[in-house]
Amino acid sequence: MEKVEKNNELMEKIVSLAKRRGFIFQSSEIYGGINGFWDYGPYGTQLKKAVEKVWWNYMVERRLNVEGLDSTVICHPQVWNASGHLDKFGDMMTDCKECKARHRVDLMEDENVCPNCGSSDLTEPREFNLMMKTFVGPVFDEDHVAYLRAETCQPIFVDFHQVRVATRQKLPFGIAQIGKAFRNEINPRNFTFRSREFTQMEMEFFCREEESMDWYNFWRDERLKYYYEILGFEKDTLRTHDHDQLAHYAKAAMDIEFKFPFGWGELEGIHHRGTWDMSRHSEFSKQNLEYVDHDNGGEKVMPTVVETSVGADRTILALLCNCYDEDMAETQKTGKASDVRVVFRFPAAIAPVQVAILPLSKKLSTEAQKVYDKLAKYFRAELDVTGSIGKRYRRQDEIGTPYCVTFDFDSLEDNAVTVRDRDTMEQERVEIKDLMHYFFGKLDY
Ligand code: GAP
Repeated sequence: MEKVEKNNELMEKIVSLAKRRGFIFQSSEIYGGINGFWDYGPYGTQLKKAVEKVWWNYMVERRLNVEGLDSTVICHPQVWNASGHLDKFGDMMTDCKECKARHRVDLMEDENVCPNCGSSDLTEPREFNLMMKTFVGPVFDEDHVAYLRAETCQPIFVDFHQVRVATRQKLPFGIAQIGKAFRNEINPRNFTFRSREFTQMEMEFFCREEESMDWYNFWRDERLKYYYEILGFEKDTLRTHDHDQLAHYAKAAMDIEFKFPFGWGELEGIHHRGTWDMSRHSEFSKQNLEYVDHDNGGEKVMPTVVETSVGADRTILALLCNCYDEDMAETQKTGKASDVRVVFRFPAAIAPVQVAILPLSKKLSTEAQKVYDKLAKYFRAELDVTGSIGKRYRRQDEIGTPYCVTFDFDSLEDNAVTVRDRDTMEQERVEIKDLMHYFFGKLDY
């Protein structure tokens, strides 16, 4: 019980800090907010762009066999018929007649008992479709219905041959996309964990059936390496969970789960999708989407797909939880609770601000700005002028800035600045001319 309360308290602290420091806040807050929609403020935007940049570099730019795509959010409605989303993409839900809470049946311990109030006066389970509907064109009727994409991978399947021809890729190869997805989730909850509008980062790898399990294992290992080595997650904060029940076309599926303060939750899915998607789009579009292997006597192969799929928002939520820290060293000395140093220990490659330049006095702002101008070309930098130097350090700790550069009166004489490391708290005097070199290698991954 105590642990649950502690975890709730931790989550509350993270949500409130995220709001106060301009990472994430409710969309349309002045109108009372809209459930399941979140805005990223200045530091959240920087963090999100950095997370996407690192993912893109790791999954696409560093690999000769993965290409990129940026497709539209609205596709031909048939795409969602072919994918099965219009038929099946829903959760069975039941309403409690007593307390009016709505529950997903598959998550209830006992299907006949309301987990909220214990009543057994429940409605018959009903299916809710999660696709978000809109209209394309001036007429709002059934002929003009379209859907906001529920996952970014479907346009990848649809555009497979366009990408293949343009890039002259041969099997096996992958196509990746980062973009918005929309789901009319019944119960958006746990901050951004389950939102109605979110960003996915997906990679679909097309290969031959006989080599697909090797690729599945390969991508599982690559993705775990990314979490441990690049995002800096500790071993005990992640676990893998193999799905017991597989779709009839799939050979394997698993989740990478993160230990959120509210419990273990899915961070990423690795899915063997068989030939299902390509066969369905072939069938519905009446186009032959087989791959012709000219290196193999023109053999026709329906590509098998292995997918890695993660939400950018969920990655950010996991990072906020993983990197939040309270340093008690000062409090232990002074006995004052207000001396707790709150720090986001983001890896330097994704920190929203990588280097903050702090002139010791406002009189030094012009000179300090010259240092900022130099660094801002290459790194996410900030010139922080207002408040005492102690308060500015605290502010930068709360934003998660790994390095603060203090420009003092001596800097005018010795052309050097003091660099303070967020984690070790060590300070080092570095010549301004060497700063760029000093930070290269420290701020990438
Ligand atoms: N193409 C496969 C696919 O979409 P999924 O398990 O439904 O699979 C993949 O979603 C990932 O997308 C999840 O692991 C999660 O990170 C993210 N995601 C899914 N639904 C989400 C939601 N409602 N809010 C935030 N992120 C979500």
